[in-house]
Amino acid sequence: MEAPRHLIDKVKQLASIKAVVGDRVSMPNRSGNVMVCCPFHDDGSPSMVVNVKKNNAFCFSCRKGGDPIEFIQRFDGVSFREALESAGDYAGIDVRAELKQQQPVDSAEAAEAKKFYAAQRKAIDEAHEAFRQALKSDESAYSYLRTTRGVSDEAIEKFGLGLAPDDFGFLSRARFKAGWIQEAAISIGLCKSSERAGNVYDHFRGRIMFPFETKPGSVTGFTGRAIADVKPKYLNSPESEVFQKAELVYGLNQAKDHKENGPFLALEGQFDVIRCWMAGFPAGALSGSSVSDVQLSRIFREFDEICFVFDGDVAGAKASLRTMERIAAEVGGSKHVSFAFLPDGYDPDDFIKEHGADVFAERIAHRLTFGQCLSRLIVGSSKLTAGSPESRQKLVAELREWMDRIVDPGLRLGLIESVANAAGIPHEALLDALSHEGNDVADEAATESELPDCRVDPEPHQEMESLIRQQPAFTLLYLSAKHESVRQHILNRQDVACAGGARKVLLQAIAGEDRVIDDELRKEVSRFSKAAEHLMPFGIMLEDDIDACIRLADRACDAILPDLASAAPASPVPASTSINAASDPFALPSVSSSQNTKHHDQVVSPDVDVKKKPEPVDSDSVAALYSPPSF
Ligand code: UTP
Ligand code: MN
Repeated sequence: MEAPRHLIDKVKQLASIKAVVGDRVSMPNRSGNVMVCCPFHDDGSPSMVVNVKKNNAFCFSCRKGGDPIEFIQRFDGVSFREALESAGDYAGIDVRAELKQQQPVDSAEAAEAKKFYAAQRKAIDEAHEAFRQALKSDESAYSYLRTTRGVSDEAIEKFGLGLAPDDFGFLSRARFKAGWIQEAAISIGLCKSSERAGNVYDHFRGRIMFPFETKPGSVTGFTGRAIADVKPKYLNSPESEVFQKAELVYGLNQAKDHKENGPFLALEGQFDVIRCWMAGFPAGALSGSSVSDVQLSRIFREFDEICFVFDGDVAGAKASLRTMERIAAEVGGSKHVSFAFLPDGYDPDDFIKEHGADVFAERIAHRLTFGQCLSRLIVGSSKLTAGSPESRQKLVAELREWMDRIVDPGLRLGLIESVANAAGIPHEALLDALSHEGNDVADEAATESELPDCRVDPEPHQEMESLIRQQPAFTLLYLSAKHESVRQHILNRQDVACAGGARKVLLQAIAGEDRVIDDELRKEVSRFSKAAEHLMPFGIMLEDDIDACIRLADRACDAILPDLASAAPASPVPASTSINAASDPFALPSVSSSQNTKHHDQVVSPDVDVKKKPEPVDSDSVAALYSPPSF
């Protein structure tokens, strides 16, 4: 008889992969994940990772491996059943005895279950069709979608959008009145039954309905966006055997239409996905608090690269960190992961609507690789300061933790390289330090220990700093537009006469007179804020607080103090004056995209004297301040 799923799962879970592999292949004796020579191909150096947390083995070279049962089956050359029994020994489960005890499945019960499942499917399909028709015949809901939300007819059709009318009986009284179909509708959360027996009513009311599908046309559940301003804004089908939200990627089927158009964008919201589809980007929404294994493999089956799109604020930094922690063991080889950031408070839907698809594409073009993004976080959290051995130790310790999480050797080396670059430490020195700490990644590079003094910038904000050094006034403007506390700080320092016209811009912006700023200045500032925007994720991520900005502002103030002597006395500005940070006073329509696609070497000049007088604005130097990640 066939082994039941739960028994197989239990064996897979309890049979230690390390014990299984260790009995068959020579394995280093250490805790945590280990690398071994792959027994399934002619492996010169270890390319198979034995992953303790996932309890499986995987070869980065030939891509074979598997869970304990699969590994035994392949290595021992036995049948699944034999491998299951053998893995059972490792799990402390007597598989034969367990199977004997299994009751033969009641065939009548199985038939009932099948029938009920068919009723559930029928209820979903009928409801979906009813929702679609209802949208077509409801003018105000249709105009909400078309006019208020700007969703095209084509997109409505493509995503199968519908309307659950504001009616307790739309499904329950008109369609699923009694019997199996009613029970099925209740079981999947389309209808609810109240305490009083017999009173069944609709769960979704007054909502735009977004169907979730596993494969094209096969809907398993819905999320409904309230049209009126009520809570919750989105209502989901409850989890059931039929609908498991954490396994679904909303919009994945539709994203295939734009497969050639860049990485797959992992987003949060339904409208974001639809807006991206309309603008020609392949995108999907991950439901649930973090991306699941099933979602990852579903996406990677279709796309080589997933780009997570987050807010460029602290929450976005944290979200990207959580995501990296979650998927560190999953990515590598041909599976690429990257991160793009939008300005605070924008979701992709808002951003594309306001700035257009081209500017959004620029954002995506500036995405950071996994290594780049993580290196900035690691370097930032170590708060690397000049000559401080503690901060360097912290950096190395943190990097080691990540080395244990990341299983792909290429990704590990890439990370070391990115960290070395971001921290300004020679690559070999970092390898040395890691190896001194006992990490096998760096074994061959191991010589004498300890990191040499940081040769470069004492602060972790190299790129932001170099921006400040070159254009302190504009950078200040940018920072002050973004952060109330920086703004206040600058305003309170009345000795600061920001160089030339920039000060004028700042004061005008603060006074809300930005209309009178002359066009040339506006353009410069806009260019600057765009350059800085791309750097913002670093700035914020690095410190995770505003102190860094304050310190940077201080330095920048110092840097431009020499200008003071010749400047007219500053007109005092009341410290309480504030501008609305949400509306970027410098926001202008797109900069020419050719500027952003040019490649420039990064300008990081550690020896620049901070007190040096700022260079005049040169638009090319703006682009030179950052180099887009290369893919
Ligand atoms: P947001 O609150 O950011 O909404 O939630 P949104 O996508 O921008 O929606 P609009 O533009 O205001 O219509 C992001 C996503 O989180 C889920 C939904 O999938 C939503 O798209 N969500 C949000 C819920 O599941 N429940 C909620 O109450 C809110
Ligand atoms: Mn939105």
